Amino acid sequence: MRHTSSTLGLLARALAMAVAVMADTTYRSRPDLSPPHLNITIPCDSRCASGYLFVSPFTTYGEPDDRVSYQVAPYIIDSAGDLVWSGFGYFAGWTGNLQAARYQGQDVLFSFEGLHNGNHGHGHGHHTLLDSHYSVVKVLRAGGHHVSDKHEFAITDAATALFQIYEPVQRDLSAWGGDDAQTWIVDARFQELDIATGEVVFEWSSLDHVSPDESALALPRGLAGTGRSSATAWDYFHINSVIKGADGHYLLSARHASTVFKINGTDGSVIWRLGGNHSDFTLGDGVRFGFQHHARYVDESPGSEVVSLFDNSVYGSESAGDGNEVRVNPYSRGKYIRLDHTAKTATLVRALEPPAVAVPGLAQGDPPILTKSQGSLQTLPDGAGDFVNWGSEGQITEYDAAGTPVFHAFLGRGFLRDKLQNYRAFRFNWTGYSPEEPAVFAEQSSSSSSSSGEGTVRLFVSWNGDTVAKSWRFSWAEETAVVDAAGTAKTTTVWKDKVVARRGFETSTRIYRPEEVRIVSAKAEALDADGRVLGVSAAVAVQAALTRTINSKGDVDVVGQERLGFAGEL
Ligand SMILES: *[C@@H]1O[C@H](CO)[C@@H](O)[C@H](O)[C@H]1NC(C)=O
Ligand SMILES: *[C@@H]1O[C@H](CO)[C@@H](O)[C@H](O)[C@H]1NC(C)=O
Ligand SMILES: *[C@@H]1O[C@H](CO)[C@@H](O)[C@H](O)[C@H]1NC(C)=O
Ligand SMILES: *[C@@H]1O[C@H](CO)[C@@H](O)[C@H](O)[C@H]1NC(C)=O
Repeated sequence: MRHTSSTLGLLARALAMAVAVMADTTYRSRPDLSPPHLNITIPCDSRCASGYLFVSPFTTYGEPDDRVSYQVAPYIIDSAGDLVWSGFGYFAGWTGNLQAARYQGQDVLFSFEGLHNGNHGHGHGHHTLLDSHYSVVKVLRAGGHHVSDKHEFAITDAATALFQIYEPVQRDLSAWGGDDAQTWIVDARFQELDIATGEVVFEWSSLDHVSPDESALALPRGLAGTGRSSATAWDYFHINSVIKGADGHYLLSARHASTVFKINGTDGSVIWRLGGNHSDFTLGDGVRFGFQHHARYVDESPGSEVVSLFDNSVYGSESAGDGNEVRVNPYSRGKYIRLDHTAKTATLVRALEPPAVAVPGLAQGDPPILTKSQGSLQTLPDGAGDFVNWGSEGQITEYDAAGTPVFHAFLGRGFLRDKLQNYRAFRFNWTGYSPEEPAVFAEQSSSSSSSSGEGTVRLFVSWNGDTVAKSWRFSWAEETAVVDAAGTAKTTTVWKDKVVARRGFETSTRIYRPEEVRIVSAKAEALDADGRVLGVSAAVAVQAALTRTINSKGDVDVVGQERLGFAGEL
């Protein structure tokens, strides 16, 4: 009880700090992790849907070497920007399109992992499925002799997977303005593959069914490759999403044709086109889209489907100002489009406008967000609203059912504020059981910091990927010097413990003891809602406190130093 007033003071300070640096998620117990620092400009309240954020930000910029590099990996993050799971070390290389899904009756995570060719916007690698213990369920590569591309990965109810192949081939391209040396074109392919057996159920080739006439990026301009080598093959079509409808046909988004196609699941023929120069539908006000991503069915009612997509409306390099941009609309939006097969019309059901965030340097009339590449639009379940990912612009927005932004964040802050990109982002529920040992860090504060002359030990614990633990039982060994009856000095050791409610990724607490009591080691046990032990850390030695500073940019990450936040000390 002697400590009540100082405890309250600390609590007040910790709360003030937690508000000021809410998204600076740095963890004393995991100095090896360097997750993204969200800059949340519209914080979630009760209007946000439940569930976590699934993102895989990456950067093409090098960082100054006095800072810990942001770790490119798939991440699960909570709505306050606190880490839930860092996939760093679980996935390697460039990763994207992290999602939660169901496979064979179990919850799984999947992500693309491999290499990313930023210049040509494709990837080479494979897809990996993890279970809720983050163990590998399956590694899937394309069937035949192909290499999987990064864009689509979707698991169907029939336990098959849909994904793409980016395949350079040689053709006579003179009909499209190619000279003798311009003979390389990308055959955009997709496969449907049985996940368990790897057997190819269906395969489609763009060159078999769609002429290069339909491209929005003509070969002579060279914007989608010059066609002079396999590495610079003309990417005339560029599939970036494929989904299978209940009727067994496929819905496909071809970015470089600015068209959404329905593809016959039996013979691969085109059933209809939406958008582009060969649209089977007359486009109503606001429907026209370009260089779009992530086409999905929202309503599959035959004859009056609703399709959702992310309308980039721009094609160009992510590093602005190369003078080669192609624009369709002044800014990017999420769109819902209803098709009427009788009237042959496409009408805009609703559009999700970029939120009016304060973008420094934004001139009057400038587009609020113009996403030059990537992007996604997720329809949240139960009419809860929408989740938009602004791709190359490194921002995410959640909208309520009325279309009002209820959450907005830049995926990076400080130095990385405008340098992170993210291919797709989602909100999903997820229950994860960490396969790791809980990580504990224990630090002895200098006794002079305590006015009452007591020693203070700070304990921190985290458990990467766990979503189940509700509280932590910290325990620590106290050594007291005693003189026994025979006059011999010796020490006695007693273990003590205390239960602390879980606070996000990292939970911490302070222990106050008189100077003659030394706390020599500490550990922590994760407890579920019923107090059952879920996991136990190793016992760690208590370290002396070292000076920690935050860098002048205020965006932390200095080597060996603390990224503040989520102290949650009680
Ligand atoms: C459609 O036609 C216009 C004008 O000829 C052209 O600029 C554009 O690239 C074509 N393709 C698409 C898919 O917009
Ligand atoms: C799909 O192709 C099959 C085989 O050619 C054909 O019988 C069927 O009518 C086609 N379906 C549609 C909707 O075009
Ligand atoms: C966060 O975003 C706001 C709005 O764009 C910006 O003014 C601010 O500088 C950003 N903060 C950091 C630390 O990047
Ligand atoms: C999470 O689960 C709740 C309860 O089942 C549901 O209402 C909500 O829509 C789910 N959230 C997401 C993002 O799927």
